[in-house]
Parts: sequence; C-alpha cells; structure tokens
Amino acid sequence: MSKRLYIETVGCQMNMLDSELVVAALRKEGYELVDAPGKADTILFNTCSVRQHAEDKIYSALGRLKHAKRHNPDKVIGVLGCMAQKDQELIFKRAPYVDLVVGPGQLHQVPEMIESARRNGGQQLAVSLGRKDGSRLEIAESFESYDPLREAEMRPSPYQAYVRIMIGCDKFCTYCIVPMVRGPEQSRPPEQIVRESRKLADEGCREITLLGQTVNSYKHRAGDRTTRLSDLLAMLQDIDGIDRLRFVTNFPNDMTDDLLFAVRDLPKVMPYLHVPAQSGSNRILDRMKRLYTVEQYRDMMARIRAIVPEASVTSDFIVGFCGETEEDFEQTVDLVREQRFKNSYIFKYSERPGTKAPALFPDDVPDDIKRRRNNDLLAVQNAISEELNQPLIGRVVDVLVEGPSKRAERQTHDDHAYVGHEHGAHEHRHALQLTGRTPCDRIVVFDGNPRQIGRIVRIRIYDASAFTLFGAVVTEHVGPEVFQLSLKG
Ligand code: SAH
Ligand code: SF4
Ligand code: F3S
Repeated sequence: MSKRLYIETVGCQMNMLDSELVVAALRKEGYELVDAPGKADTILFNTCSVRQHAEDKIYSALGRLKHAKRHNPDKVIGVLGCMAQKDQELIFKRAPYVDLVVGPGQLHQVPEMIESARRNGGQQLAVSLGRKDGSRLEIAESFESYDPLREAEMRPSPYQAYVRIMIGCDKFCTYCIVPMVRGPEQSRPPEQIVRESRKLADEGCREITLLGQTVNSYKHRAGDRTTRLSDLLAMLQDIDGIDRLRFVTNFPNDMTDDLLFAVRDLPKVMPYLHVPAQSGSNRILDRMKRLYTVEQYRDMMARIRAIVPEASVTSDFIVGFCGETEEDFEQTVDLVREQRFKNSYIFKYSERPGTKAPALFPDDVPDDIKRRRNNDLLAVQNAISEELNQPLIGRVVDVLVEGPSKRAERQTHDDHAYVGHEHGAHEHRHALQLTGRTPCDRIVVFDGNPRQIGRIVRIRIYDASAFTLFGAVVTEHVGPEVFQLSLKG
C-alpha cells in the first residue's frame, strides 16, 4: 500500500526538531511527504500547549478531518507533542476519529503505533508520567529524549540543524505549561551531542543551534567531571566543517560569566543571545516566579554588554499577566526602551489549566487591554529594531545563505506555472533573490546565484527595515598576483 505522510507542526524549535525526527523515522519505513492532508493516508499534528490559541488551531484542524475520515476509514490520524501529553484521552473524546495520541517523551513509538492502528484499528495512547505521578527518577525515565542519528536529506535545510542538548524544564514559572508536558530537566551526555554534531558536519551542515528550554542551565555530571554549556561549546568549536554555533533559550539567572567568555572567545559561537525577561515589574516577576528581579536582569544585561558588546540580545514578554496594572506595564515598556533589544516576542497572557497561576491569581486583565498593551509594546520594540538596523547600512556582513527569499519562491512558482504551460520547461535564471542570516541573526535579502546557497557570502548592506536588511554581494577584487598563484596551484 502507499505510504503518504502529511505533518503539521506548531510551537517552538523543539517541536520542529521532533517533527523532523519523526519524518526521518517514517521515511525509513518507506513514507513520502506530501503537502496537503487530502493527498495523505497518514496525517500527523505535532502540537503545542503554551497558549490556548495554539490548541484551538489544532482542534479546529482536527474538526476539518472528521469527514475525510468517514470517506476514507483507512486514513490514520495522529496527535503528537505537548497537547497530546496534556490532554491525553480528552483528544479521543473531542475527536473520536483520532487514532494515536503520543506525548513528546514517547515519539520513538510513532512508527509502530501507526502500524498497529492500521492493522487493528484500535486507538493508541502513549504518554509519559505527570509531574506528580511518581518519584523524580521515575518521571524522568518516562520522558525519553528522542534523538536518533540523522541523515542530511531529512533536514529542511542541509546546512543548518538543531541539536537538542537537554529536555524538560524545572523552573515552573507560574504561567507555563512546559514543565508539565516536557517533564523534568535532563541534560544529554556531551559525547552524544558531539557525536551527533560531527555526523551533521560530515553531512555538510555548517550551522548548529543547540536547543533547551533553559539551554544555559545545561549541566552534565559523569563521575567527578561536570560539563557546562561553556565547556560543550568549546568541544563543538573543534569540529571541522561547522562554522556557526548558536543556542536558545537562555534563562537570565544562568547567564554566567564563563558562558559569556565562551561567546566572546570562541570564534564559531555567534554573538546572539535570546534571554527572555517576561516583565519589567518586580511585582509581576514575583507572581510569575521568574526567580529574579528587574535589577538582577539589568545587571545581567550590563555584564553581557561589557563582555560581548557586539552581541545582539532578544527577549520575550508576556503582557496582561494576572494583576498587571498600567504602572507594571509601563515598567515593561521602560525596560524595553532602556535595553534596546534587537527584537522581542510579545504574547498576551493565556491562562493554562495545569499551571500554578490559576490557583493563585485570577486572570483579571480584560482581553482588550491585553491586546492594547501587546500592540503598544510591539510598536516600541519595532521602532527600536528599525533604529538598531540603520547603522548597518554601508557595512559588509557575513551571511550564511539559506535559500531563495519568500518573494523568489513565489515568483519561481508563478514562472513555473506560466513558462511550464508555454514551453513545457522552466528556463534557469541566474540571478535569484536569496536570503540568509548575519552572525547576530539578522535576516538579509540580496540578489545572488543558487550556487551560493549553503555558503557564507560577504554582503554590503544598502538598506534596512525593522526586520530585514537589503544588500548586494561584495565581489572580491582579485589582483594579477593572486591570479597567477592560483594558476600555478
Ligand atoms: N523556555 C523558554 C520559552 C518557553 S515558551 C523560556 O523560558 O524563556 C516561549 C514563550 O512563551 C515564553 O518565553 C513566554 O514569553 C511565552 N509564554 C509561556 N507561557 C505563556 C502563557 N501561558 N501565556 C502567554 N505566553 C506564554
Ligand atoms: Fe516555561 Fe519558565 Fe521553563 Fe521557560 S523557564 S519553559 S517559561 S517554566
Ligand atoms: Fe509549545 Fe511544547 Fe514548545 S508547549 S512552546 S511546543 S515545548
């Protein structure tokens, strides 16, 4: 029988990596990916529970599949990831035609679960223990880090990869569902991480982004040896073929000097730090149980600026958390104005059943006020982002080229439709609008050649908006001596 897989992924980079690995495992079983649920016989959703909206999206997508399943009972529908762990059987109740529900700690079971769903048609559930359902060790063991060895052709971009260095989270911020759905914090052994990164390098990968919910809390003990993130970065720095290392997401309290020295001293570690502040008000930070004050966050930022002055820093903020007054919000605006983040992700507070906040405080900021604060903070941040990009105009930056820009992709698509009809084939064009990133994670768009994809190219910036830099390839001047040398060589 045919094996056609459609997968839809929401949520954070952890989920993107999980989906990539599930797809890789299923490809080994002979599945091919298709781009629409209608063409597939296996449909998977890799889900997120961090905000209500993310869950609503999946439940409505599931709702749309009800009829598809009635017409074609052989279709297998699976719900994976954080919402699977959170809602468990509730998913079968709300969408009885779902065949499998698989938590993020059980993803290794997906291929066999699809098989048994297809064979006997029964509903399959695989989830990990809840945070109160056993000893810490038992709970930790029920979450398996899903990191099988990978193959280049399975990655969305062969030149870039995510590598998980830890799973879970033990911070228990009062608004956050992640510790409940991703389980206890566990760091992977450094040898495994290095081996996986080496393999990626051998397959042509040039940039690795290390992933963890609080990536800078990474700590692995073996005998009397402790490996921290700074040690791990030093080990990865030595891998030939890897040119760029990044890591997300950082927790402010764990931004230690040894890590900042590693960012300063290791040439492959990019000067880019994502360190969410969440709020600029001590009263709110305390309610969120973020374990730091705004003064401590400011001190941390001062250390970053002193040790790695060229680093770009980005943040996350939640507006409208329980009890947030106009004054609390103004303090957040002040923090953004003062710290001038490269970029901030701003979210309206969304109450999550299963977290601590609902039992402690009412969700009392009306939605229209949350929305207004979100827009106001975003406007302040966007103006800063645009200002920070202006000094780059005229400068030359190194860009790791990722692929065609969105505009180029759309155009090629349209050209294909048109030219394909006229001539039966699409004529190859030389200049193509490409996109890539600078060391500090700014997006650059320029006209280039498809051969430049996957390479680091020098680009001179001539224009900048809040989110994009526009540039042109710098053509190196090759003098006659260099030319002769290369002829001899
Ligand atoms: N581990 C990361 C991010 C976790 S979730 C960290 O600690 O920073 C990503 C972002 O979603 C968070 O930084 C936070 O800003 C936001 N978020 C988490 N729970 C939320 C909730 N209940 N409502 C709104 N935003 C939330
Ligand atoms: Fe959630 Fe806080 Fe853990 Fe981040 S540190 S994942 S916000 S509990
Ligand atoms: Fe969402 Fe799970 Fe990531 S809840 S943000 S997908 S860890």
